[in-house]
Amino acid sequence: MRKIVVTGGAGFIGSALMRALLRARDVDAFALDNLSSGKAENLEGVDGARLAVADIRDYGAIAPLVEGADTVFHLAAIPSVPRSIHDPIPSHDVNINGTFNVLRACHAGRVRRVVYAASSSAYGDTEVLPKTESMRPAPLSPYAAQKLMGEYYAQVFSCCFGVETVSLRFFNVFGPRQDPSSPYSGVLSLFNKAILERRAPVIFGDGEQSRDFTFVEDVAELCMKASDAPSSVSGKFYNAGNGNRYTLNETWALLQKIEGVSIPAQYGPARAGDVRHSQADTAAAVRDLGHAPRFSFEAGLRLTLEWYRASLKS
Ligand code: UD1
Repeated sequence: MRKIVVTGGAGFIGSALMRALLRARDVDAFALDNLSSGKAENLEGVDGARLAVADIRDYGAIAPLVEGADTVFHLAAIPSVPRSIHDPIPSHDVNINGTFNVLRACHAGRVRRVVYAASSSAYGDTEVLPKTESMRPAPLSPYAAQKLMGEYYAQVFSCCFGVETVSLRFFNVFGPRQDPSSPYSGVLSLFNKAILERRAPVIFGDGEQSRDFTFVEDVAELCMKASDAPSSVSGKFYNAGNGNRYTLNETWALLQKIEGVSIPAQYGPARAGDVRHSQADTAAAVRDLGHAPRFSFEAGLRLTLEWYRASLKS
């Protein structure tokens, strides 16, 4: 049976990928996770999922775990733009040095392909929307620079060491199991919790910044397609977005409409390192990887809201 490893596999996106992989294929799937933000319970009910607790900063621990794998999906990271500004050393260490370790271990372990979770933050602020892969990267935060470095390393491991690599620039992924408990949590997890608790969220800035919110199941699907695509994609990077964008004001208004309540948001100062607008051009991913997002923003949001409603009750 093919061996598959998902680093960060107990996290919010990684566990959705484990679930999708084990639903669609007959594989031996390992979640490699240090459980710093991932949780074993995210894998509960995922038939056949195996959890290997290890830290990607520890080469000696991860090398035997990835050895002989067909595909390693490298999702383990310390996310968050503001966290990388307030505390840049841990995120540098995990996102750059950890990624280097994963790639090195994949080379040593003769892994066929690595699919790397890169970030839309690499683009920074561009004058033109949507953002296409041919645009020059312009990172605005340590997190953005770190994720971009990982992409460059993935490219280099493809051309210098013969490891097939594909980078996917994730665009603001959201969905069930995104943890709303930290101030660094993704905005939609915080909005969902706020609306269910009938509280006002805090919007940083005027709320007119926009994001291409992408449902986690569409991202999991695209990861699998990136693993299956022909070798000609090796060394390349692709946008992993939905192709639309919504402002935070529109998003909070939509949640209020769905819930049938009126709770004006509170506004605070704009956040350092924040990108103003983000929207993916999905043409290259559609053409080369067969990307076909199935969830509109509203459909994904409704599913997510129902998941939080059930989880906050229990
Ligand atoms: C960035 C990346 C994203 C990546 C993520 C990892 C961009 C465009 N996106 O997301 O691809 O996956 O980092 O962490 O760079 N906000 C509020 N109130 C809150 C929290 C956030 O108004 O309580 C605002 C932020 O200021 C920002 C937006 O919501 O404008 C989204 O923030 P967040 O969810 O943290 O993600 P990004 O930083 O956009």
